[in-house]
Amino acid sequence: MKRVGLLTSGGDCQALNATMRGIAKALYQMYGDEMEIVGFLDGYRGLMYEDCVKLTPSDFSGILTKGGTFLGTSRTPFKLIREPDANGLDKVEAMKTTYRRQRLDCLYVLGGNGSQKTANLLSQEGLNVIGMPKTIDNDLWGTDTTFGFQSAIDIATNAIDCIHTTAASHNRCFIVEIMGHKAGWLTLNAGIAGGADIILIPEIPYQIEKVVAAVKHRNRRGRGFTIIAVAEGAMSVDDAKMGKKEYKQRVADMLKVYPSISYEIADQIKEATGLECRVTVPGHMQRGGQPNAYDRVLSTRLGTYGAILFQHGEFGVMAAIHDHKITSIPLSEVAGKLKTVPPDNDILEEARMLGICFGD
Ligand code: F6P
Repeated sequence: MKRVGLLTSGGDCQALNATMRGIAKALYQMYGDEMEIVGFLDGYRGLMYEDCVKLTPSDFSGILTKGGTFLGTSRTPFKLIREPDANGLDKVEAMKTTYRRQRLDCLYVLGGNGSQKTANLLSQEGLNVIGMPKTIDNDLWGTDTTFGFQSAIDIATNAIDCIHTTAASHNRCFIVEIMGHKAGWLTLNAGIAGGADIILIPEIPYQIEKVVAAVKHRNRRGRGFTIIAVAEGAMSVDDAKMGKKEYKQRVADMLKVYPSISYEIADQIKEATGLECRVTVPGHMQRGGQPNAYDRVLSTRLGTYGAILFQHGEFGVMAAIHDHKITSIPLSEVAGKLKTVPPDNDILEEARMLGICFGD
């Protein structure tokens, strides 16, 4: 008998269920009745407190198209993982104990950056762990893309598309604020797909004067409206010069006045141009709903590869995609690194050729 555990950790995204289905269906095909799968509820919390359910093949039926995660998820910050919980419980020891009590041969961790860091820690502690690359932010090191990312691009693009028609009717300046944490992948891709005129991402600090100049330039050319895609983590040149602590304080001060960075930028544009400037924040919509076709295929491929890794006894790795091929990368290489948009990325050059302004 083989027994594996599944958990989904961190912010949810589309295709978590599809990935678990891929893993499970392939494992059941390989091992038949000799395979038992346990699901831990709400991410690492379920592993810490042995809150789990035994799953059966029918649990993985009909979930390919369903967003969210049927196991639930939670955020378990890596920096607190070595700190005991409110009752003095050693979290790492508790997770190891659950793994052993459940007689697991392997634990699959579907998660983003922080979750894979913890997965690496558990692997170093001697557990058999296989990571699965999840996040709408696409900021996970070691994989060209993550599941959830393309579905989120579709939603963010759709938001920009909707704004486009109303912006044009009213001759207004519109900002669409897009998720992505400290990385600009989502904003960059949705911005290009939605035909944004200005795209502001954390990797390219903006000068507000340049943004204003781009808006005015459009106006002079008879374009009454401007669409700006702003990453939630966008930062000005001055922000980028700040140390970590100073920047944190600056964001805290800004949030006392504005709901987010986009509202500050909107105010600055309005003041400099006199144009009406509106902000739309699709927010968590970007993580919700059905996975798109690309993500269904990607997560199925990653999931089945996850089963192969188990069969081959390859642990301490994360399934990944590189140059369209499904592969794996050691968790130790993934942990603690952030994949941001490189300044020499072709896509940036191509966007600039269209006249898209990055505020630099
Ligand atoms: O990591 C995914 C993500 O949606 C980021 O884009 C965003 O910054 C963050 O999660 C939001 O987190 P929460 O759901 O905890 O508000």
